[in-house]
Parts: sequence; structure tokens; C-alpha cells
Amino acid sequence: MDRKRIIIAIDGHSSCGKSTFAKAIAARLGYIFIDTGAMYRAVTLYALENSIIENGIVDEERIKSSLGDIDIDFRFNPQRGASDIYVNGDLAEGKIRTIEVSNCVSAVSSIAEVRSKLVAIQQQMGRKGGVVMDGRDIGTVVFPDAEIKIYMTADPMVRAERRFKELTVKGDSVTLEEVYDNVVSRDKADMTRAISPLRKADDAVVLDNSYMSVEEQMAWFDELYKSVVEA
Ligand code: DC
Repeated sequence: MDRKRIIIAIDGHSSCGKSTFAKAIAARLGYIFIDTGAMYRAVTLYALENSIIENGIVDEERIKSSLGDIDIDFRFNPQRGASDIYVNGDLAEGKIRTIEVSNCVSAVSSIAEVRSKLVAIQQQMGRKGGVVMDGRDIGTVVFPDAEIKIYMTADPMVRAERRFKELTVKGDSVTLEEVYDNVVSRDKADMTRAISPLRKADDAVVLDNSYMSVEEQMAWFDELYKSVVEA
């Protein structure tokens, strides 16, 4: 018997391994993985490259009037086992994960018009189910009826150390302190913004992975998945 292809919504703090976890679940279930943070980062990258953000200041009116010019799509990359994001046909995957983009993305993602454009795309991508989507408002706004909702968190210093390692491996010259400050300030901005702030949905299950390996997180997920689909 074919299992129903459900929606799995994963929300939580910055840099707590949501994408790694979501990608592993999607591979396990043969689902599509959608990284919604990449979409907010892609809009931020476009704004930086087109001088809509200068000296860290976002020109909100220009970003709103440019939204129609920003075309975002995902294309599966078999080498990564995940989809790469493209902005107006150009591969943006590597360019969206710099500290410069990270420092401006909270301001961009707090603009209502940016959110409504991206939420509509996300709802369209998940309409048939069989998706694992990670972000900040997936279980609360994008898919409030998702069958599984997970709210992820981890100790801020553990998260900063993980992100610091990722960035330095890529050759970015950042300090741990800079990364820690970015993690903490993004948490604050994401949780206090007026529109769709990050919050745990009432029916979400909390996963604190500060001291858990990916394998332990997957074993935790398997139990949860069984309890939902076999209920
Ligand atoms: O998941 P991430 O760290 O790559 O996300 C980058 C930023 O995008 C994050 O600081 C907040 C924003 N974001 C959001 O507001 N809503 C989402 N669904 C996903 C990300």
C-alpha cells in the first residue's frame, strides 16, 4: 500500500542544522527538500548586487518595486543530493551563504511584500505533499496543517561553532565572535519581527540537537514519523 505523501514542516533558530536534518529526511522518504531560507537569501543577494542595499541599509521601496524582476527557481543537483537555487537563471547557491548576506537577510525577510511573494511560491511547491520544508514560519503560516511540525533549536555557541567551521572551510575570513553575534542577532530579529515571527507552532515537537549527532536526530525522527503515519 502506498503511504500518503505528507508535509513535514521544520522551523527553528538560525544555524541549528535544519537544512542538514531536512535534507536527510527527504532522502530517506524520497521527498523533495525545500530550503526557504535560501529564497530569502536569494532576494537579499539580488538586492546587494543591484545596490538596493548599501552600507547595510535596505531601500524598502526599491526592493518592493523590484520583486517582479526577481525570478527564483530550484534545480536538482545530483552531486549534492539537493536542489541549487538560481536567481534569474544564474546559480546563486554559493553566493547566498556569505556573512554579508547573513547580516542583511533579517531586514529583507521582515518586509511584508517579500514574504507574501515567497510564501506563495512555497505553498505552490508543496501543494502535492511529499515535501520537507525548512524555515521560520512553515508550521505557522506556510503550511499550518502540515502533518509533522518540528521546532529545532540548539545552544547559540554550539550553533556559532558549527557555522564558523562551515564558513572557514569555504575560505571565508570570519571570526567566531562575528558568527556568534550574527546567530544571536538573527534569532532576535526573527523572533521579534512584526510579520510571521519565528515561534513554535502549538502542535510542533521540539528537537534540541545541541549534543546530538545526525544519526541520533534521524533515529528520533523515525520514531516521530512512525507515530504519525501509523497512528
Ligand atoms: O535558514 P536561513 O538561516 O538560511 O535563513 C535566512 C534568513 O531568512 C533567516 O535569518 C530568516 C529568514 N527566513 C524567514 O524569515 N522565513 C523563512 N521561512 C526562512 C528564512
